[in-house]
Amino acid sequence: MRTPRDLHRSRRRRSHRCWDHLIVAPLWPQHGANLGTLLRTCDAVGACLAVPRLPWVPEALARGDTLRERACVHWVHGPLRWLRNQRDTHVLGVELAEDAVRLADLPMARRRTVAVLGNERTGIPPEALDLLDEVVEIPMIGTGASLNVAVAGSLVLYKLAGMS
Ligand SMILES: C[S@@+](CC[C@H](N)C(=O)[O-])C[C@H]1O[C@@H](n2cnc3c(N)ncnc32)[C@H](O)[C@@H]1O
Repeated sequence: MRTPRDLHRSRRRRSHRCWDHLIVAPLWPQHGANLGTLLRTCDAVGACLAVPRLPWVPEALARGDTLRERACVHWVHGPLRWLRNQRDTHVLGVELAEDAVRLADLPMARRRTVAVLGNERTGIPPEALDLLDEVVEIPMIGTGASLNVAVAGSLVLYKLAGMS
């Protein structure tokens, strides 16, 4: 087993800069803890986090961020307008949906990709669904209706980054 010292030596000294290639977007967040978890995954895979500038979000990120250096954060003013303004970008919804591709069939992101996550209770709002190019679903065989949003986002980020 690798020791904490070995792990520390094999990691980057500085946080990666904004690569603006892979962006995970929990645009209607409810629980700050999920944003902190997603930020950690962003650091691990070289992604950015796009979040709305709601009054409680900066504080939630500061509290949830347990890394020495923070991953890249894009502040969103108006989620629907922000989604509409994405150019030369694959806008991928992460949601339980009829016509979704399965996670196993999702290829690595070859171009700029935004992975849109839904609200913890209500999912992706209907008015945002038309702005998605594609939807990916993570298959489930248990009794739960859905996964935690940060778990779902992290699984999709690893697949898009080609690291799983
Ligand atoms: C807890 S779920 C919301 C479920 C909500 N009750 C609904 O009916 O849409 C929060 C978000 O996590 C993501 N999510 C959770 N489980 C997922 C799955 N199996 N496949 C794809 N996305 C999932 C989606 O982005 C979803 O909007």
